[in-house]
Amino acid sequence: MTRHDERFVRYLEAKEPVDDHALHRPTLARLNDLLEARAESRPGKPLRVVSVGAGTGAMCRRLLSWGVFDSHDDIKFVMVDKQEGLADRAAAAFARWAPAAGWEATPTKNGFRIERHGRRVELTYITGDLFDATSLLPRALDLVIAHAVFDLLPLKRATESLVSRLTDRGLVYAPITFDGHTSFRPAHEADDRILDAYHETMRAEDHNGSTTGSDLFSAFTSAGLSLVEAGGSDWVVHPPYDDHAPAFLDQILHFVEQSLTETGNAGVDGESIEDDEFQTDLDSWLRTRHRQLETESLTYIAHNVDVLAQLD
Ligand SMILES: C[S@@+](CC[C@H](N)C(=O)[O-])C[C@H]1O[C@@H](n2cnc3c(N)ncnc32)[C@H](O)[C@@H]1O
Repeated sequence: MTRHDERFVRYLEAKEPVDDHALHRPTLARLNDLLEARAESRPGKPLRVVSVGAGTGAMCRRLLSWGVFDSHDDIKFVMVDKQEGLADRAAAAFARWAPAAGWEATPTKNGFRIERHGRRVELTYITGDLFDATSLLPRALDLVIAHAVFDLLPLKRATESLVSRLTDRGLVYAPITFDGHTSFRPAHEADDRILDAYHETMRAEDHNGSTTGSDLFSAFTSAGLSLVEAGGSDWVVHPPYDDHAPAFLDQILHFVEQSLTETGNAGVDGESIEDDEFQTDLDSWLRTRHRQLETESLTYIAHNVDVLAQLD
C-alpha cells in the first residue's frame, strides 16, 4: 500500500466511531425487523449480503456486533471494493475483531469463515469495480449495503445494477450518504467560498456528488424500490475530542485541500483554483483550521442520510 492508501485506511479506522455515533437508529431497527421477518419466511435459507465500497469491512463487523443479523444462522457476506490492498487490511481487521467478539475464524480461499454458537458467516472479499463484480453475482441477494459510497458513483447506473441482483423483496441499505452540507466552527470569512468549491469538486461524470443523500429517494423509486425508513446520520465532531477525532478531522481537512488543489479542478462558477485570491483564501483557511484542530477548538458537521428501501 502507498502512503496515500495507509492514510485512507487510518481515516476509515477513525471514521468507525464517528459512524457508530451517527447512524440513524430507527432505520437500523427497521432493517433488523425486516431481516427477522425474512428469516421466519425463508427457514433454512442463507442470508446473502453484498457490501459495495466496503472499505475494510467496518459495517459488516458493526452489524454482526450489534446483533442485526442475529436472526440468521447462515450468512454469505461478500465485500466489494475497487481499491487494491484493502482486502488485506479488511482481513487483518476481521482477524483482530473475531476472537474478541467470540467468533472462531478459519481462512478460506477468498476470505474466511467465522463461527459462533452454531452460527456461520462466510466472508468473501472481491477487489474490483462494483459494476464488474455485481454482474458476476447471482440474482439472489437479500441485502445490498452501500455505506458512504453512493456519492462516489453514477447514481442511476449503480442503483439499477445493484437492484438487478436482488431477490424477491430484497433490501438496499445506504447509510452515511453525504447530502450537501458541511460546516466548520468557529466561522471563517472564507468558509462559503471554500466549502462551495469543495462541494463542487465532488460532482463529476461518474460521481453523483454532494446532493446524493437527497437524490437517493427518487433514484431508488425509479429503480423499483419502495422506501422503508430513512433519517439523518450527521457527523458532528466537536471538542473535547475522543481518541479518534483528531485523525478523522485531519483527514477531512486533507480531503478539502486535496480536492481543491488537484490539477484541473475548478471552483464555483468555473472559477479557477489557480486564481491567486482563491489560493490565498484556501491557505489562510487551512492554516486556521489546522491550528484549531491542534488546540482542540475545531467543530465539524457534515449532513448525511441513511436510507433503507425494499424491492417492490
Ligand atoms: C468513503 S469509502 C467508504 C468505505 C466503507 N464503506 C466505510 O464507510 O468504512 C468509499 C469506498 O468505496 C470504494 N469505491 C468507490 N467507487 C467504487 C466502485 N466503483 N467500485 C467498488 N468500490 C468503489 C472506494 O475504494 C472506497 O474504499
